[in-house]
Amino acid sequence: MKIVSGPASAKLGETVARSLKGELVSVLFKAFPDGESYLRFETESLRDEDVAVVQTTSPPQDQRLVQLFLLCDNAFSLGARSITAVVPYFAYSRQDKRFMVGEVFSVETIVKLLKCCGVGRIVTVNAHSPSVLRSFGLRTDDLSAVPLLADYFRSHGLVKDAVSLSLGKKALSFAAEADSVLKGGFDYVSTKRNVETGVVALEEKELHVRDRDVVIFDDIISSGGTMAKAVKFVRKSGARKVYAACVHPLLIGESRKSILESGAEDIVGTDCVPSPVSKVSVAPLIARALA
Ligand code: R5P
Repeated sequence: MKIVSGPASAKLGETVARSLKGELVSVLFKAFPDGESYLRFETESLRDEDVAVVQTTSPPQDQRLVQLFLLCDNAFSLGARSITAVVPYFAYSRQDKRFMVGEVFSVETIVKLLKCCGVGRIVTVNAHSPSVLRSFGLRTDDLSAVPLLADYFRSHGLVKDAVSLSLGKKALSFAAEADSVLKGGFDYVSTKRNVETGVVALEEKELHVRDRDVVIFDDIISSGGTMAKAVKFVRKSGARKVYAACVHPLLIGESRKSILESGAEDIVGTDCVPSPVSKVSVAPLIARALA
């Protein structure tokens, strides 16, 4: 298998290629003065090769998506036999239906464009709605980084018998997965999203966390508002140490500061989105899925 590592996931792509003992296709990347991307594979042909293009689509997501389309279509033009788009953070995945009449259905449009570029399989990590992604007829494998995140807390001795909490009941499976590693029990913080404003509020719900260590898991930390509110609530419920964990640390603006000021000991994320808190690598997970 040949691995093309896009500019947004250069390091991750290299690590995946190394673990797979696959060949890395170097990509020359330049930004034109007007912001457009120039990309060139340092190979003449990918004839009859199975190719995986690794490119996350965290902000600036529109630019990174265009780069992903260009890379996949280029692999197609160079004769690849199969193209797998490895998109650790799949942008626009929260717009997974038309919540209001007349809205765009972003995820559907992106998958259609990937198909047009010759992609036959998509690999994501904790995509917001994997079942929606799968419904467009492309083979889609959604991997979970939650056990790796949970293991970080265990192996670094950061918590003792920690309770694993998800943000929202819908994500309870995250807490259950984490609990298979941390084994201190699991539950969820009750959340409700206003479909018009997008603002998430917490609902009153009793949590049995008094004098316990707690790790709160979410797929994405964007503005950090939801996590900061949850940390505050869990602290108020009597928890001892509270950590924030997420797969995709977008960490927009002052989010990191506001979560720490709400009482979190630390924030731990993965390299699905390279950031200062990306302490856990998903490379082994992706390599296994591609092997
Ligand atoms: C929501 O559906 C997601 O799972 C996250 O909870 C949300 O994206 C977090 O957003 P923010 O950090 O802006 O509160």
